[in-house]
Amino acid sequence: MKKTIAIYPGSFDPLTNGHLDLIERGSKIFDELVVAILRNTEKQPLFSLQERRQMMEAMTEQWKNVRVDTFEGLMVDYATQVKASVVLRGIRAISDYEYELQMALMNRKLSPNLETVFMMPAEAYSYLSSRLVREIAQLGGSIAGLVPELVQQRLREKIDPALKFQTKKRAGKRR
Ligand code: PNS
Repeated sequence: MKKTIAIYPGSFDPLTNGHLDLIERGSKIFDELVVAILRNTEKQPLFSLQERRQMMEAMTEQWKNVRVDTFEGLMVDYATQVKASVVLRGIRAISDYEYELQMALMNRKLSPNLETVFMMPAEAYSYLSSRLVREIAQLGGSIAGLVPELVQQRLREKIDPALKFQTKKRAGKRR
């Protein structure tokens, strides 16, 4: 029987609990789900591609049909390369719709056999975005419950690099 491979593309800078919620939902309906992290060329991301990939791999290892990859260039070309027939995207509110519709229709024009499937994350994450998480963390607000503990730690280290040094020193002492 033919396997349905879906890709879930995004910047994931950083990943949030909303992304994980969608990945879990996607993993239940597709045979294989490839989380495809964009190597941003226009925007300067807070986390490097390697950092984003490492966090995503750590947080998705529980789902056996989910794998993490990175891509650059056109998303439709990447989809062809990994034999995906579906693009998974999350829609949180009406405000997402216009941009997502434009992107889905443009991708359909570029690759008519690639279907975009929209899923909604849990209501609790409907106001959550990576951009707000970055902003709140950089301004010293709490992001508990919005991102996994690992991401909270990495954000703290990004904002105060001295913390990373202290964590490493403590780990060294324990060895
Ligand atoms: O998490 P984001 O930033 O909303 O994800 C946007 C993403 C990565 C899905 C989109 O920017 C994308 O597909 N970029 C790759 C380049 C491309 O194919 N552009 C044409 C889109 S119609």
